[in-house]
Amino acid sequence: MRRAVCPGSFDPIHNGHVEIIARASNLFDEVIVAVSTNYAKKYRFEPDERLEMVRETIGGLRGVSVEPMGVGLLADFCKLHGADAIVKGLRSTVDYQYETPMAVMNRHLTGVETVFLAADNRYTHLSSSLLKEVQSLGGDVADYLPRTVLKRLRNASQEP
Ligand code: PNS
Repeated sequence: MRRAVCPGSFDPIHNGHVEIIARASNLFDEVIVAVSTNYAKKYRFEPDERLEMVRETIGGLRGVSVEPMGVGLLADFCKLHGADAIVKGLRSTVDYQYETPMAVMNRHLTGVETVFLAADNRYTHLSSSLLKEVQSLGGDVADYLPRTVLKRLRNASQEP
């Protein structure tokens, strides 16, 4: 039984994340999507809402579950959940440079390996922050966001 963790803050989850999680679920028997919260960061959505959106979006994927990661180390979360690997998507060499020191550190901490999946061409330009900015300024981002996320963003922008 091979188990992987797909970590992220998912503020909010977008179709690039969904594609990586779906591909991870083809490679591993079980995938835990870990929704992190870093209290030094300012999020658009509360932790519960980010978790809910991820659950609503990928709830139907076989072998995939969603858990809050809290504020601790990702390596400890992996150890606690018996994960063999962390799966991350790489959009560019910038991601590679950012991610490799963490991959080496996570392996040092608990022996957990990191598996990188090259992002699909359709999504290499996506980030949650870019999508939030474009949506908040009236741009159409419907191609890139799960329906539940789009609905929540639209509702939020209609609030006074
Ligand atoms: O979606 P994000 O914000 O880029 O996700 C980043 C995440 C959650 C993968 C990263 O911040 C993380 O691993 N946080 C947990 C804290 C931790 O383990 N830090 C040391 C990394 S070696």
